[in-house]
Amino acid sequence: MVKGILKISQISKIYTLKFPVIVFVLILLSFFSLFVKAESYAVATRHHLATDIGMKVLEEGGNAIDAAVAVAFALAVVNPSAGNIGGGGFMLIHLAEKNETISIDYRERAPIKSYEKMFQDSSGKVIKGLSLNSILASGVPGTVAGMFYVSEKFGTIDIKSLINPSINLARKGFVLSDFQAKNLNKYKKKFEKNEEAKKIFTRAKGFSEGDIFIQIDLSKTLEKIAKNGKKEFYSGETAKKITNFFQINGGILTLEDLSQYKLRLLTPVCGSYRLYEICSMAPPSSGGIALIQMLNILENVDLNKINNNSEEYFKLLISSMDYAYKDRANYLGDPDFFKVPQELLTSKKYADDIFKLIQERKTPSKANINIIEGEETTHFSILDKWGNAVSNTYTLNTAYGSGIIPPGTGILMNNEMDDFSSKPGHPNAYGLIGSEANKIEPKKTPLSSMSPVIVFRDQRPYLITGSPGGSTIITSVLQEVLNILDFQMSLEESSGKGRIHYQHLPDILFHEDLDDSLIESLKKEKKLIKRKLGEIHSILIKKDIVEAFSDKRRPDGKASAVYE
Ligand code: DON
Repeated sequence: MVKGILKISQISKIYTLKFPVIVFVLILLSFFSLFVKAESYAVATRHHLATDIGMKVLEEGGNAIDAAVAVAFALAVVNPSAGNIGGGGFMLIHLAEKNETISIDYRERAPIKSYEKMFQDSSGKVIKGLSLNSILASGVPGTVAGMFYVSEKFGTIDIKSLINPSINLARKGFVLSDFQAKNLNKYKKKFEKNEEAKKIFTRAKGFSEGDIFIQIDLSKTLEKIAKNGKKEFYSGETAKKITNFFQINGGILTLEDLSQYKLRLLTPVCGSYRLYEICSMAPPSSGGIALIQMLNILENVDLNKINNNSEEYFKLLISSMDYAYKDRANYLGDPDFFKVPQELLTSKKYADDIFKLIQERKTPSKANINIIEGEETTHFSILDKWGNAVSNTYTLNTAYGSGIIPPGTGILMNNEMDDFSSKPGHPNAYGLIGSEANKIEPKKTPLSSMSPVIVFRDQRPYLITGSPGGSTIITSVLQEVLNILDFQMSLEESSGKGRIHYQHLPDILFHEDLDDSLIESLKKEKKLIKRKLGEIHSILIKKDIVEAFSDKRRPDGKASAVYE
């Protein structure tokens, strides 16, 4: 057996060497049940330093969950626009030994003092920006609780040593890429509204590529979290710094909110698609249900007989997206507060009925709404040599969250309250509308589109994937899944394919680079807007190869894989 490591910034593929002798020995070993399976491991994330940290954990014998915790803390330092400890997210874990897949909802909750109309004025009009850029925009963060939970429950390495590399990165700094320097400069105005954010995230002359970016307060906070455990964040000194600041500045987040934060273990939403089983996040994410619903609809067509990214293909996708996003708006919300008709929405029968309507060229009814833009979230995928897999998407919501940092903490707070429906029918930052199902209530979780996915073949992880991009997450992930499962593309090929996004309302088709003739014909039916969609970080596990790939849509990502 030959071990090889190939690390190129975007892709790593390691093939086994097929020397006859080696093959003979392997067959012999497997005959005597000594050889169980190839030991491969891989990490794909948004930032090369986080990927390296994750790979080191795996190389030194940690499992996928250990690596995930180390990566999550690292991204909070090196990818501050989305990686976080002031936000929340979802983690899907496949435990190979038990052949069990679980999901953890460590997303933000609405503060106890929140209420349905908190973002409306006395006449019922939604006050612009209040749910995004104000002290009221933050939900109770869940990331620290999430990482401590998975580490205690499924990890094998002391969490302190998993946080240590991040403490060092924050204290000693890391080199800003051109993209990161420009991105920080782009949000200068946002940071200038908060004294701490201004101090940490702005420079009079702006940032440049190659600058060393140091976050002393964040390093101290991480050090305290490593030393004192999650109570540091939920009831300790850090908790007090956060809530004092919120109290003084007219916020509603209290110590009681932090100390009462609870994550949830949820049964993932799984469905079959041709030869595969697909698992993703259950509500309060809309991702799992919408993805399974769209796949069920599309299963009615032999997609590989249609050309990938052809007009016929996209029209089918658009129709499936139309129905799935309409249902998202009407029926999806936090399952502790609203009875989500999950079984119906993910049933094959329901999808078949929709498919018949699509064939009759019927579309669900609509009204027009405005579009707003904004995107920042981050996904990472991890596989360890025992076959455990982690698919994790977490966020502050829009880039750098609310832009608010409680003094002395270095923690950027999320603006996840915008994912609630501020008023029925009123679009959020992603143009998504909601209803009663997603209204604001104390301790409720806002509806999400984050869709960490694990696809199984023969009960083993086959594809680990996910994406940022707000409402476009689900359609990006759908197209990745179809490219891999129906069109047998490599991860790199799939990444090179232009994608579309349609979400029922607004009635606009978002698209990336596509053939001019295709754009011309799609234009006849829909208003088109060109827009770059979210970058995907995937791992594909085939019999003779493990492929890991960080989408080139954004720079700085890295995927590494070892196939032993
Ligand atoms: O949970 C959600 O659906 C949003 N808060 C995610 C935001 C996001 O993906 C931003 N983008 N890149």
